[in-house]
Amino acid sequence: MPLFDVYPLYNVTPVSGKDILVYDNEGTEYLDLYGGHAVISIGHAHPNYVEAITNQVNTLGFYSNAIQNPLQKQLADKLEALSGCQGYELFLCNSGAEANENALKLASFKTGKKRVVAFSNGFHGRTSAAVAATDNKNIIAPINAQQAVTILPLNDIEGVKRELEKGDVCAVIVEFIQGVGGLDQGTTAFFEQVDALCKANNTMFIADEIQCGYGRSGKFFAFQHYNVTPDIISLAKGMGNGFPIGGILIHPDIESKHGMLGTTFGGNHLACAAGLAVLKTIEGENLIENTNIISEYFIEKAKTIPQIKNIKGRGLMLGLEFDFEVGDLRKALIYNHKIFTGGASNKKLLRILPPLTIKKEHVDQFFEALTKALVEIEASV
Ligand SMILES: Cc1ncc(COP(=O)(O)O)c(C=O)c1O
Repeated sequence: MPLFDVYPLYNVTPVSGKDILVYDNEGTEYLDLYGGHAVISIGHAHPNYVEAITNQVNTLGFYSNAIQNPLQKQLADKLEALSGCQGYELFLCNSGAEANENALKLASFKTGKKRVVAFSNGFHGRTSAAVAATDNKNIIAPINAQQAVTILPLNDIEGVKRELEKGDVCAVIVEFIQGVGGLDQGTTAFFEQVDALCKANNTMFIADEIQCGYGRSGKFFAFQHYNVTPDIISLAKGMGNGFPIGGILIHPDIESKHGMLGTTFGGNHLACAAGLAVLKTIEGENLIENTNIISEYFIEKAKTIPQIKNIKGRGLMLGLEFDFEVGDLRKALIYNHKIFTGGASNKKLLRILPPLTIKKEHVDQFFEALTKALVEIEASV
């Protein structure tokens, strides 16, 4: 049976990984500056992670949400301690889209309203309400288009005020650092005013931290670079280091009711074991501190490359903008220099999303390769 062909694929077949390196089926080593799309937070096959999942699957891999599962509470407590989000409550699910779908649903339950405000070039996943909150027409089916969504330009504070004062907006959803859109960020004044406008208009402020959260921005959550208090924070990607897990942190002002949200697999024993191993490793190996150190080093090196016209993002969620489309450069990096990088909908942007365990020597290796790859692609035109 053929696979439904929705992904354009590079011709590489990774079969194993160790920290920031992956190996293909012929034993070739690759430097992973893409982190499996910002998913690999603590490194491939981290011993803490392997041990936690192995022990758990040998004990109890799954039972339903109809019984007590103390691992969920352990995960919630550890998340509260590391994130500093005191008093929030945790709902666990399986992916980023599902986290945002539940966040939007909860905002609608809480406010009794149904319109959503989101921003140009944003991305929040592919389920019904989440996918409608994007301006990428290619991924919105007619069934999704019936959601009431208003898309505004990032930083359009007058637009946010105008829409929220109409009284029917249940949620404003934002990525504090845009992912696939190309690493744009709102201004401090914009984010802080959106927060205030949400509070004044009974609208839930949803921070989509699926890509920029879990230490990647240099703080536990990217919204923590600003003075804002989101009502709901959505998580996935780095939370499980590859094990499928997502979640939302819910402000205590939003009351739970039995049956209001639910999932079969969300918060299962294996997922919690993976999630706990990730948090313990982020803490034990000071990975947020490492993120800031390596980010600064990376940015300094990037500034010395004349072809790089702009450096975007924060922490280890960085974008290098060139004045040409980077498709060939990415191919040269992967096939000639054995380095994975990411792309964006901004075709001139090379995205850097490595495991947070990355060291300076890997950054040096990348810039040596980049310099050579730039010569190669210039010679080929
Ligand atoms: C900011 C953001 N939100 C939501 C999602 C959707 O997550 P998932 O693919 O796990 O459904 C993504 C995935 O790339 C993302 O980057």
